[in-house]
Amino acid sequence: MGLDLADLPTCMRCALSLTRQRVVIGSGPGHPALMVIGEAPGRREDEGGEPFIGRSGQLLFRLIEEEVGLKRAQCFVTNVVKCRPPANRTPTRGELEACRPWLSEQLSVIRPTVVLALGNTAARSVFGFDGGIGTTHGRVVDLEGAVGMATFHPAAALRGGPSVVNVMRSDLRILKGLVGGA
Ligand code: URA
Repeated sequence: MGLDLADLPTCMRCALSLTRQRVVIGSGPGHPALMVIGEAPGRREDEGGEPFIGRSGQLLFRLIEEEVGLKRAQCFVTNVVKCRPPANRTPTRGELEACRPWLSEQLSVIRPTVVLALGNTAARSVFGFDGGIGTTHGRVVDLEGAVGMATFHPAAALRGGPSVVNVMRSDLRILKGLVGGA
């Protein structure tokens, strides 16, 4: 049976509920051209209640605007895990499994045309990819009524510099074709 999104702000499906400040649900319009899915909230997001409000979000939405032509306000933005893991560690398999049904519920209500997952953890959880993001980025797949693709996480681009940014840009150009062709 599906979950009721009205229950998401008080979710206690995993132990992250004990350490979070806020459940970071996500925000954006219904039926957007693009839904962007990151890994999990960081400290700023846990405090502010919005996904991607730090430096990686700034880079990400600059690249999306430049390559795809969409502004942040036109995208629905969320994470696979809705609560901050302590010290920003990678979410555990159990946390990912507990939280994934919320994303399916969001996908069925929000009905994006194209889904972009960011980084290894999101790409595996959202699309079920086995390999690392270095081999799965740029691949176009079907997802629960939408088309999807994964690219590098913008935090990896902040660490890795222009070579990672350039791969993200070329993935986003493929994505633009999906958004435009929908
Ligand atoms: N990194 C993520 O994956 N998600 C956020 O919301 C912020 C940083």
